[in-house]
Amino acid sequence: MKLGILTSGGDCSGLNAVIRAIGLYAFENIKNVEIVGIPDGYSGLISGECFQLKRDDLNGIIDRGGTILGTSRQPYKMMTVAEDGPTRLQEMCANYKKMGLDCLFTLGGAGTHKTAALLYSEGCNVIGLPKTIDNDIFGTDVTFGFQTAVETATECIDRIRTTAAGHGRTIIVEVMGNKAGWLALNAGIAAGADMILLPEIPFSEDIVCDFISKKKAKSQPNGQRYEKPYNIIVAAEGAVLQSEYKFKKRDRAFVRVERGETTITPHLAEVIGERTGEETRSTVLGYLQRGGTPCAFDRMLSTRLGGYAAKLAAEGTFGVSVAVCGDKITFNALAEIAGKYKLVDPDGERVSMARGIGISFGDK
Ligand code: F6P
Repeated sequence: MKLGILTSGGDCSGLNAVIRAIGLYAFENIKNVEIVGIPDGYSGLISGECFQLKRDDLNGIIDRGGTILGTSRQPYKMMTVAEDGPTRLQEMCANYKKMGLDCLFTLGGAGTHKTAALLYSEGCNVIGLPKTIDNDIFGTDVTFGFQTAVETATECIDRIRTTAAGHGRTIIVEVMGNKAGWLALNAGIAAGADMILLPEIPFSEDIVCDFISKKKAKSQPNGQRYEKPYNIIVAAEGAVLQSEYKFKKRDRAFVRVERGETTITPHLAEVIGERTGEETRSTVLGYLQRGGTPCAFDRMLSTRLGGYAAKLAAEGTFGVSVAVCGDKITFNALAEIAGKYKLVDPDGERVSMARGIGISFGDK
């Protein structure tokens, strides 16, 4: 049996641990197995490149961030566009056959899964594995890479708190998450944020400023120790104003680009500073959240998902993506989940609990 593995889209911690688990399970349990790595995601499949992955290549990578295979973004909408010659999809299918693959493991996020579903519908045996720090893949409780990003973001916010407290500042910490606010929500709660701004809950500048002004008015000099009022606001990069929400994403982006910004964070910092008189700063955590060694939870999850995916291949189950459901590892049909997202429920338990302990979402 010949197995191919590729990693596609933004990197995250745990990719190598998954590659390792797929490989180890296959070498242990599948007779005459051959494994190849396809470099740089779907780009490698389009150009027909692959290289042998030996048992020894899997040593010492469980704790390594990034991906030993390399990755790239290949937009889904370009897959079926005919330029001069065959489409990218046709090239990928032809190369899948040329490589003699019996199964292709695609480690990636929502976009990767859409392309994986397409490949399967064209006759390639594909098994998807849910990777992303955004945790927004439909049909799985959690994705690998997410927990490490939560830990990293939480530690960064803890560190930023010392500056906010020392200076008595309001600091907005922008974390990744364009469509889904899972990372902002979890890291925000874990780091004791005062306010969390999510793509799923449009916020109002008036409410944000009012919250900060009221908190300042309420704060009393502490007889025991010296403490100035300060605020930590954790904002997802996709956080959106109530006034922007009705506009298409493209039009929103246009207004922001005109201001020289891509996210709402710098604008919000300016508005808070002007309206409340509070010294306000912002920090964008960016790629810090995607890099580095996976936490133990992600190593465990990656190993379970990778091993299970290899087992499915050995049994001949294809056209699926492996998933976590409660304490079980299971799978969903790619056709069922492709194109869908798992978003934060604004009325769900986590948001309600956060509101219950006084965290504001800037909306009411
Ligand atoms: O991988 C998901 C993600 O981290 C998103 O949260 C973010 O919007 C995006 O990647 C940024 O990716 P890049 O800058 O690598 O294209």
